Amino acid sequence: MSSNLHISPHPLVKHKLTLLRDVATDHRLFRELVRELALLLCYEATVDLALQPSIVNTPMGQASGWQSSEIIGLVPVLRAGLGLVDGIQELLPAVQVWHIGLYRDEATLRPVEYYNKLPEAPTVQVCLVLDPMLATGGSAIATIDILKRWGAPRIKYLGILAAPEGVDALSKAHPDVPMHIAELDERLNDIGFIVPGLGDAGDRMFGT
Ligand code: PRP
Repeated sequence: MSSNLHISPHPLVKHKLTLLRDVATDHRLFRELVRELALLLCYEATVDLALQPSIVNTPMGQASGWQSSEIIGLVPVLRAGLGLVDGIQELLPAVQVWHIGLYRDEATLRPVEYYNKLPEAPTVQVCLVLDPMLATGGSAIATIDILKRWGAPRIKYLGILAAPEGVDALSKAHPDVPMHIAELDERLNDIGFIVPGLGDAGDRMFGT
């Protein structure tokens, strides 16, 4: 498997993912778990963010410290990627959020773009592409194609579940993009769903 693939070793991620998969988990709990998983995965995916030294005044005097020196952009892939935004914004309140709309054509499984309002020039230094499911990889690859054409200097993918087919395709198309996920599942089924997976993430999140 690709050396760019980072599967969370964290016990809380494993526990919450198991609840998320459960067919008995309702929409409300599903959304809450996705929010919490996003926060935990973001903590791991941002381990190499650049810092610059800074001085802070404490009640007792001055201390040397650090501040984050990179502008981060979240790029949720509509619809299901929206569920990953809230938790990350709690950790990183200064992020920019740039939405990309793609849906997967049910017959061809190819992504179809329907929303993109990126400004002409890039406004961020690191992009986190957010989409809970990496199935064939087509949606993530198309999103990263868009971001590279935009000129985004550094891109990471953050999702919850991936199929080996999606990891292979994404690491071949964009070998420079690290992937941070909660778990790698067995395979895709014949209609392009991850197995054992968790069903349709967008439908479970939005009650459709
Ligand atoms: C799902 C999922 C990903 C995509 C993954 O979205 O949220 O965006 O499929 O599949 P891929 O790796 O094969 O491209 P879907 O098209 O169902 O749209 P939705 O998020 O609006 O439900």
